[in-house]
Amino acid sequence: MTVGSDSEQSEEEGLGQAPVRGLGPLPQQDLQELTTLRQQITHHDYLYHTLDAPEIPDVEYDRLFARLEQLEAQYPQFVTLDSPTQRVGGTPLSGFAQVTHEVPMMSLAKVFDEADLVDFEARIKKRLDSAAPIAYSCEPKIDGVAVSLLYEEGVLVRAATRGDGLSGEDITHNVRTIRDVPLRLPASARAGTDAPAVPRRLEVRGEIYMSRSGFEAANAQAAVTGGKTFVNPRNAAAGTLRQLDPRIAASRPLRMFCYGANILEGDETVPWPTLTATFASLQQWGFVVNPELQAVTGVTQCLVFAQALLARRDGLDYEIDGAVIKVDRLQLQAELGFNARTPRWAMAYKFPAEEVATEVRDVEFQVGRTGTITPVARLEPVFVGGVTVSNATLHNMAEIARLGLRIGDRVIIRRAGDVIPKVVKVIENDGTNKEALVTRSEILMPAQCPACGSAVEPDGDILFRCSGGLVCPAQRKEAIRHFCARGALDVEGLGDKLVEQLVDGGLIHDVADVFHLQHAQLAALERMGDKSAAKLMAAIDKARSTTLPRFLFGLGIPEVGEATALALASHFGSLEALLAADAATLESVEDVGPIVAARVAHFLQQAANRDVIARLRDAGVHWADQAVVAQSDVLAGQIFVLTGTLERMTRDDAKARLQSLGAKVAGSVSKKTDWVIAGPGAGSKLDKAVELEVSVMDEEAFLAFLAEHGK
Ligand code: IVH
Repeated sequence: MTVGSDSEQSEEEGLGQAPVRGLGPLPQQDLQELTTLRQQITHHDYLYHTLDAPEIPDVEYDRLFARLEQLEAQYPQFVTLDSPTQRVGGTPLSGFAQVTHEVPMMSLAKVFDEADLVDFEARIKKRLDSAAPIAYSCEPKIDGVAVSLLYEEGVLVRAATRGDGLSGEDITHNVRTIRDVPLRLPASARAGTDAPAVPRRLEVRGEIYMSRSGFEAANAQAAVTGGKTFVNPRNAAAGTLRQLDPRIAASRPLRMFCYGANILEGDETVPWPTLTATFASLQQWGFVVNPELQAVTGVTQCLVFAQALLARRDGLDYEIDGAVIKVDRLQLQAELGFNARTPRWAMAYKFPAEEVATEVRDVEFQVGRTGTITPVARLEPVFVGGVTVSNATLHNMAEIARLGLRIGDRVIIRRAGDVIPKVVKVIENDGTNKEALVTRSEILMPAQCPACGSAVEPDGDILFRCSGGLVCPAQRKEAIRHFCARGALDVEGLGDKLVEQLVDGGLIHDVADVFHLQHAQLAALERMGDKSAAKLMAAIDKARSTTLPRFLFGLGIPEVGEATALALASHFGSLEALLAADAATLESVEDVGPIVAARVAHFLQQAANRDVIARLRDAGVHWADQAVVAQSDVLAGQIFVLTGTLERMTRDDAKARLQSLGAKVAGSVSKKTDWVIAGPGAGSKLDKAVELEVSVMDEEAFLAFLAEHGK
């Protein structure tokens, strides 16, 4: 018997799967609607989740779904196992039932190099006693969880894990939630295809996995909600399938690729000659078959496939641990048969592992460009993901605490894709590092920066940073780049590349050295020349004349942006007054809270920083003292919008000055806007201002306006 088309099915065949839970007759019209809705939703699920090509907008889908839910609530006795509403996860189970596999789930023999794969083909030919070329199905070996799906009369009735190969656990409740798993196979051919009829009892096998992106997203979400984070996508998939409550699986992005099928009853319907033909049918029935799959002839082409797959490994959104090479003809598979645990017609060609165990010999602390201090594990060198690794990032102290890591621990290192190797797990006392266990020592953040010896201070809840911003060699380039940038001293022409060249060449060590550069030194630099050197010398000279807010901003004091620098300058008027202030005084500055006040006080108290400041002034860096301006509220309640390019100040600067007068600065023009300040290149915001008859001033007028208000 084959499964007829849905429209031909009687009410009993089509909807009678579930026990009768409610009463009340189902009018013919509602029955028709239920059936149609299920077909439509299943079709759109397939288009959306499997083909990634939705045909209707989400709201339309939601409407269909809501209507189906409404009808099912009205007639609960007609809720079927294959209804799309059943994917959302029903009631939790109290335990897993054991399932005996009708066809044992074998594993694959493995090879690790080309020569062994060549031997595999030689063995096959010998056993078949034939020299004829052999066709193979080449597939990625997905790193997930093997699953067996049982369909009876085209309806998914059971899903089970591999277990020991002979029996596994019933995980139907979780697998039902996976969009790639069809709940009902199309009784009639999918429109436009010549799909064969589905056998009465069909077992489909494949791998359930979590995509890399899904895994990252799930972990990021778990970190926010305090939920469980997983070590890798495979553990995430396995951990999810092991849940009794299907709502958990429904909320996680599990997917499935099929890699085989067994016809348990009704084999007259599909006489598949090859695995390739099997995959074609599976695809027509709505299963997802891996797009990398290739049918080739001869072992050399299998090797080409495996090499190409390995090269593409990092770019795939799911993890693979090798290629699987299978004899394509089912007749030949039958002739070759099985060894004790593995088929003779298939072979796994394994890729280098992306997770391996090793030992943490030491932990060192690295200072980043901006002063953040990161712990790094020094490892017993180990081959992982195709390279030998001897360091792995530990991110921060909270991560060390989360891992429970100590020096001397045995750990799992992961290097997937092109990413930096990281420690994902401490292997609990498994007896392999007994010696190390004795010496396991705690990892502590150093009190002094390993690069410059300045004090290390906390930066927020998790991070630590070096306080020697101006003098720390690890932060040197960034500090100089920042000091010379627009918004700070604005040394035109002194960009990232040149700073790099000057520091690497030993010509400058800190920001003060910039003002001691000689023309001849610059002219001698690669790609520089006389003319450019003269231009840069002029720019450096011009930068000597600056303003106090720019100078303060340029120092790169943690937490001090342009607005805070302006607030500090306006409050104290002179650098001397600021240098004399303690944290408590600093806190009295408008918008300066206790954290910023402590940072500023600490920075300015460091002898090394004071020394650099003194040397900058000795080198001629100067400014007119800032008029001490009390915070004012002359513009209180007024809304300003900035548009176009401001040529004599940065946007942040303009914004800070307006805010210090009590104004609000908005991003778009509306009827509520009081003023638009427009520089060259102003576009739609200016048009809108004209249209709404909002007052507009240019930069010139704005500067005059600010001067009038002492800014
Ligand atoms: S075929 C008898 N094909 O690898 C052959 N397995 O050690 C059975 N796997 O448990 C497996 N991708 O979980 C096959 N394309 C693929 C596969 C694959 C991943 C897993 C599967 C199995 C293990 C074999």
